[in-house]
Amino acid sequence: MTGFKALCLGLFCVLFAIHIHVPIPSNIEERWKVMALDGIARTCSFVGRCLEHIGIMKYEEFISMIFRLDYTQPLSDEHVTVMDTAFVDVPVRLYLPKRKSETPRRAVIYLHGGAYCFGSFKHSGFDLLNRETANKLDAVVVAVDYRLAPQHLSPAPFEDSIAVVKFFLQDKVLTKYGVDPTRICVSGDSAGGRLAAAVTQQVQNDLEMKHKIKIQALFYPSLQIIDSYLPSLRENENGIIVTRDIAIKLLGLYLSEDKTLPEAMRKNQHMPLESRHLFKYVNWSILLPKKYRKDHVYNEPILGRTNFSLPALMDVRESPLLASDSQLQNLPLTYIVTCQHDILRDDGLMYVSRLQNVGVQVVHEHIENGFHGVLSYITPPTYLHLGLRIKDMYISWLDNNL
Ligand SMILES: *[C@@H]1O[C@H](CO)[C@@H](O)[C@H](O)[C@H]1NC(C)=O
Ligand SMILES: *[C@@H]1O[C@H](CO)[C@@H](O)[C@H](O)[C@H]1NC(C)=O
Repeated sequence: MTGFKALCLGLFCVLFAIHIHVPIPSNIEERWKVMALDGIARTCSFVGRCLEHIGIMKYEEFISMIFRLDYTQPLSDEHVTVMDTAFVDVPVRLYLPKRKSETPRRAVIYLHGGAYCFGSFKHSGFDLLNRETANKLDAVVVAVDYRLAPQHLSPAPFEDSIAVVKFFLQDKVLTKYGVDPTRICVSGDSAGGRLAAAVTQQVQNDLEMKHKIKIQALFYPSLQIIDSYLPSLRENENGIIVTRDIAIKLLGLYLSEDKTLPEAMRKNQHMPLESRHLFKYVNWSILLPKKYRKDHVYNEPILGRTNFSLPALMDVRESPLLASDSQLQNLPLTYIVTCQHDILRDDGLMYVSRLQNVGVQVVHEHIENGFHGVLSYITPPTYLHLGLRIKDMYISWLDNNL
């Protein structure tokens, strides 16, 4: 067995050495650390693909296994009580400040990223972020573990997230946790950013909901699945941590059991003919500032080449950018972080444009040397100074605005 482990370690080192040579953009700080993290991600991805190819296990099973190594237990500390429980059958981790409070508290609902295939509030990075938010803001934090693909397809993650938010926004629940109904934030990163945006749209436009969201915070959110050839997807095709190819593979797992969908998405010809009217909402030649459009040539996606009967492709819950102006008008103050070296950069940038066009207040932080998922790297041994700075920026923004 030791021989086998040594062999595996040796093989990993060889693969790591091969995958670490990929060049990274020149303005990335802590270069060697980022290259190592990226090299590990690429090596794991490569091994996952090999295992899938040989038939030992699915790619996503292997990656999940790696991610689970980073899971934490609900550990209370001197300031915050932490517990895992469930709201309407959806697992949640609650962070409840221990200090006595004279007045009702603020609250943050956090939706984690992971391409809808991976991830949990249990990740050490999310756990630290939510714990610190609870402690520094003296706020209640609810982190949500919605169902994941490929066992649960679209729109299961949204359904779980909105169910938790609706449950939490009831008077009796807010009273139980001592939360002020007028000071609630919904936050999320990546796929969780999409959930946060979609949930906020739904709540603000639901006439039956008495309590609303005060602010939303979106970190490098994914906000559309209809154009797979945006400038940021072209520029970061082989980007740090997340490549276009992997993102499309995972999106395919989440949207449909049809194995031909990812290939159609790679060629940007997955949308049906009747979706033509939606492209104005993601027309980057209009919605992206010139600085990011650069010399990229706008290509109309090829419509009607394939006929997937997939309502998800045209569903505003999967592409919050498809909301109409009148739906967007009701949105609250919004904090958006976009990263330059990220396939999802333009999703966030286009949402900033659309929200500003209808008069929604937006605080936009564009991180010139940022890359996808950087906020997850805030715990030892993989913490990055940039991740820590974004965490601190977010928490102080919340403190000033929630
Ligand atoms: C996108 O905008 C360009 C103008 O920049 C226009 O020529 C094109 O027809 C638009 N495409 C769609 C699908 O809205
Ligand atoms: C898709 O459906 C449309 C309308 O039903 C039809 O005109 C078109 O030929 C179909 N395309 C394919 C590739 O089957």
